[in-house]
Amino acid sequence: MANDNFVQWMTATQQNTECLLEQLLPDSGRAPQQLHEAMRYSTLQGGKRVRPLLAFAAGELVGASAANVGRIACAVEMIHVYSLVHDDMPCMDDDVLRRGKPTCHVAYDDATALLVGDALQTLAFELLATPLPGIDAARQLTMVRTLATASGHAGMAGGQAIDLASVGLQLDQPALEFMHCMKTGALIRAAVLLGALCGRTLSDDENTRLDHFAKRIGLAFQVVDDVLDVEADTATLGKTAGKDQANDKPTYVSLMGLSEAKDFARTLYDDAMAALAPFGEQATRLKQLADYIIARSF
Ligand code: IPE
Ligand code: IPE
Ligand code: MG
Ligand code: MG
Ligand code: MG
Repeated sequence: MANDNFVQWMTATQQNTECLLEQLLPDSGRAPQQLHEAMRYSTLQGGKRVRPLLAFAAGELVGASAANVGRIACAVEMIHVYSLVHDDMPCMDDDVLRRGKPTCHVAYDDATALLVGDALQTLAFELLATPLPGIDAARQLTMVRTLATASGHAGMAGGQAIDLASVGLQLDQPALEFMHCMKTGALIRAAVLLGALCGRTLSDDENTRLDHFAKRIGLAFQVVDDVLDVEADTATLGKTAGKDQANDKPTYVSLMGLSEAKDFARTLYDDAMAALAPFGEQATRLKQLADYIIARSF
């Protein structure tokens, strides 16, 4: 797998994800129309689809069926979109722009945004709990549990709670790492683990390595998000730049400064890549995605 076809693979995988989401989301003509419209508005045509890409790349590592990975990739993306819709609400980060469009609560209203999150979350679990061909029920239960743990109080939702409780505080590095790993790292880790659960059973050593990669790249993702909030502009990001400082959020940039935060992301990347080394060629897509996550400009 040559490096030069990565962009092609990424584009094709993003298009495939878009197509699957389009099919799996409720039709906007169906009642309750506004809810369904808002679910589609928030989910379709936007976003980098990093979590689906990671799930597909992990699926390639284990020779998984693309159809099964597609389903779990969409489930993870729906949880992610739900987290973004709620994250943008006035009671949380109070943002008006997301993926280059007005946020869900601005385009619709607060109650609709709340319900879009609720409905996307439950749809994700419905998809994951529907039998996947060739995957036994016990393994699928593991998948459901993996996504639930990553999304709930010990994962994304818990991390968001810490984020909100930390406004105006300067967290030390262990506390900041704990928060970032939960609010963002957990779901990224789940995307990788779920992709891998769709294929051949990994050895304990392989599982440990893949999990280490997933944790480090999940944290690196949020460190880069903190950096971009300072360095990139609103038009490029498709969301309001400079919001972390404006909202007085503790971030890696506020903790260690821009250049050290970038160095830290690079250290996490190196550590993540080292864990993949023994997989050789099979991990090419995951390695290329790690490169992308570190070097991205939005
Ligand atoms: C933004 O996630 C929120 C974080 C968890 C940092 P992404 O940067 O993946 O957002 P989209 O999906 O591409 O819009
Ligand atoms: C969001 O972190 C993490 C989520 C669980 C959505 P941020 O609040 O930094 O995400 P952005 O910068 O608004 O996308
Ligand atoms: Mg936030
Ligand atoms: Mg936010
Ligand atoms: Mg951010």
